[in-house]
Amino acid sequence: MKSVLVLGAGTMGSGIAQVFAQAGFKVFLRDIEINLVEKGLTTINKNLERLVNKGKLTLEDKQEIIGRIKGIVNIEEAQNVDLVVEGIVENIEVKKKVFAELDEIFPANTIFATNTSSLSITDLAAVTKRPEKVIGMHFFNPVPVMQLVEVIKGVATSEETYQTICDLVRQLGKTPVTVNEAPGFVVNRLLIPMINEAAYLLMEGVATAEDIDTAMRLGANHPMGPLALADLIGLDVCLAIMETLHKEFGDDKYRPCPLLRKMVRAGHLGRKTQRGFYQYT
Ligand code: CAA
Repeated sequence: MKSVLVLGAGTMGSGIAQVFAQAGFKVFLRDIEINLVEKGLTTINKNLERLVNKGKLTLEDKQEIIGRIKGIVNIEEAQNVDLVVEGIVENIEVKKKVFAELDEIFPANTIFATNTSSLSITDLAAVTKRPEKVIGMHFFNPVPVMQLVEVIKGVATSEETYQTICDLVRQLGKTPVTVNEAPGFVVNRLLIPMINEAAYLLMEGVATAEDIDTAMRLGANHPMGPLALADLIGLDVCLAIMETLHKEFGDDKYRPCPLLRKMVRAGHLGRKTQRGFYQYT
């Protein structure tokens, strides 16, 4: 594999594009508006700049990495890609529409991976004529730092596609874990209910946000507390995952916390809107 198209230039998409380019791949980074593409490219530039300032990357390397990424709006500008990694909004209907479009555009041997954080790979694969070439490739935020990629097999994913993607993850310098499709996969099935429970603790007045986070940092050795982590992930993403778990399992233990819902309605989505459980200005 030499070339990849990343769909979505947001937090995850730009991070994914960066790690592919750093590993030597030619990358097309696509979003629906040019200003979104440019925002993603600016984030990548800043991240690489930080590495240069720390002496972990030369200026020449940085320029080469940037040179391997081409920002685009029109998908058809992405020529000869071996893989598409989709990192767009967490909405099954929108994703299905995009997968059906991709299926028309790209040759039958192109693998389609989704970075969905909890939706069904099988559902997405079913709208294409290549379900054996559709797979979950779930990265973690911040993508350049986090070592894990969950590789999720849908019902129809072939062994060949699965092996190709596991090898690719290692080529990116990351570690794959194999997950058979289930709502929330492994990490989010454990992590997001914990965040949801932290929101309940806050809503019930059991402790302040700062104390909840300090408790988990110092009492469970987590690198950051659950509410600060929710702000990093995005409260809208956390809510979408809880809703998927609740709907798919039909068990009220996954009921989204009303405070989480209220904050999303207010547009307090975390770091990306400068306000979530904490203020970022
Ligand atoms: N982009 C790139 N690099 C970043 C970064 C970012 N957004 N944030 C931090 N870094 C780098 C720093 O530059 C630093 O690099 P060096 O070691 O080379 O100096 C390194 O990460 C550590 O950063 P800091 O020293 O600033 O801060 P820290 O030690 O507190 O680490 C953290 C920051 C890596 C975010 C750490 O707090 C952490 O691991 N938090 C938990 C993150 C986590 O759980 N992510 C998973 C979320 S779930 C998810 O993403 C899946 C989903 O579907 C919802």
